[in-house]
Amino acid sequence: MFIETCIAPVNMALIKYWGKRDEELILPINDSLSMTLSTKEMCAKTTAAASPNFKQNRMWLNDEDVSFDDNPRVLRCLKEIQRLAIARSDLKFPIDWKLHVVSRNNFPTAAGLASSAAGYACLVYTLACLYGVENEELTSIARQGSGSACRSLYGGFVRWNMGTKADGTDSLAVPVAPQSHWPNMHVLILVVNDAKKKTSSTKGMKRALETSDLIAHRAKHCVPERIKAITSAIKNQDFCSFAELTMKDSNQFHAIALDTFPPCVYMNDVSHAIVEFVHLFNKILGSTVVAYTFDAGPNACLYVLEENVSQVLSAIQISFPNDAANNVEYLKGIPVEYSKTEHNILNGNAVFTTNRKNLLKYIIHTKVGDGAKKLGKEEALLNPTDGLPMKK
Ligand code: DP6
Repeated sequence: MFIETCIAPVNMALIKYWGKRDEELILPINDSLSMTLSTKEMCAKTTAAASPNFKQNRMWLNDEDVSFDDNPRVLRCLKEIQRLAIARSDLKFPIDWKLHVVSRNNFPTAAGLASSAAGYACLVYTLACLYGVENEELTSIARQGSGSACRSLYGGFVRWNMGTKADGTDSLAVPVAPQSHWPNMHVLILVVNDAKKKTSSTKGMKRALETSDLIAHRAKHCVPERIKAITSAIKNQDFCSFAELTMKDSNQFHAIALDTFPPCVYMNDVSHAIVEFVHLFNKILGSTVVAYTFDAGPNACLYVLEENVSQVLSAIQISFPNDAANNVEYLKGIPVEYSKTEHNILNGNAVFTTNRKNLLKYIIHTKVGDGAKKLGKEEALLNPTDGLPMKK
């Protein structure tokens, strides 16, 4: 039996991907740019094994036995990796050997936090290790699992070039700056209480392309400028420009979601209260120290430099009081000391709206991180003797 285990990170888009020019190959209508989050707090972990004894391809996703051969995106990723393996002509094992794949996220999937990006990046990276293919094409293959997954193979700040070729071979992710370039770039993910099922990204962007008048303008005129501007903000560690571009792009993405017919409403009242909070906080401080971005859901991702994290958390606690604030489960991830009671954190001048209690489910404190990585045999999620998932 051949067996490999890898981890891959979550990435959070600063300039959003929204809209495909090719549904099948997952080719976007605009470039996008993201920051990779540390795998310590959030990652997908996958073990893939190949054996002559496996009767069929099988997959277990977060401990659920799911179909492998009925999932076209998974099959496409596998086929593409096998194509690269065959092209190498020194196959590690016969191409018709069946696979067992186990994948788990180390963060609650219910939170709806970019789990497909980490999941597909991890699947593709693990299959590449299993078949022994190291190739620049890997991001193009991960893209065919889920568009945003191509950006999760690299760490730091990553750009996905839309490309122009019809076959998608130039639609690749490329690193912009490594994690070490801006290591004090931290993130607070505010997980909002919300059980409602939203329109998936795949469906939402398809409908946007069919019905929104604004989306073409964004792709043609706004995104190219923003990509250039945020790239230089990152290179210069210019937090203020970085923050403004990130917030504007999040707002524009949600404006397009609302311009879709019927509209896609991803943000809720709590999300809007967070937006208001961020702008007020920056205004009170007289400089931009915190930025928000929202994907296709109500949870907020706040960018804050490390030195400002505790002050932002104290203000969040005042504006979004929570009975669970003293509970260890409320603030997950990187530990941080912050005041939960002080009402005058900003020299007595702060006047925050106090929202209703318990609007946030919990907060994850994380930071910029590295890309996909191979792990040792001892980390396997599959039992190497029977090829079945290890008990947790
Ligand atoms: C709002 O990559 O999940 O997170 O390619 O259809 O699988 P598919 O969509 P997906 O879309 C992500 C959209 C986004 C913005 C982004 O990550 O750039």
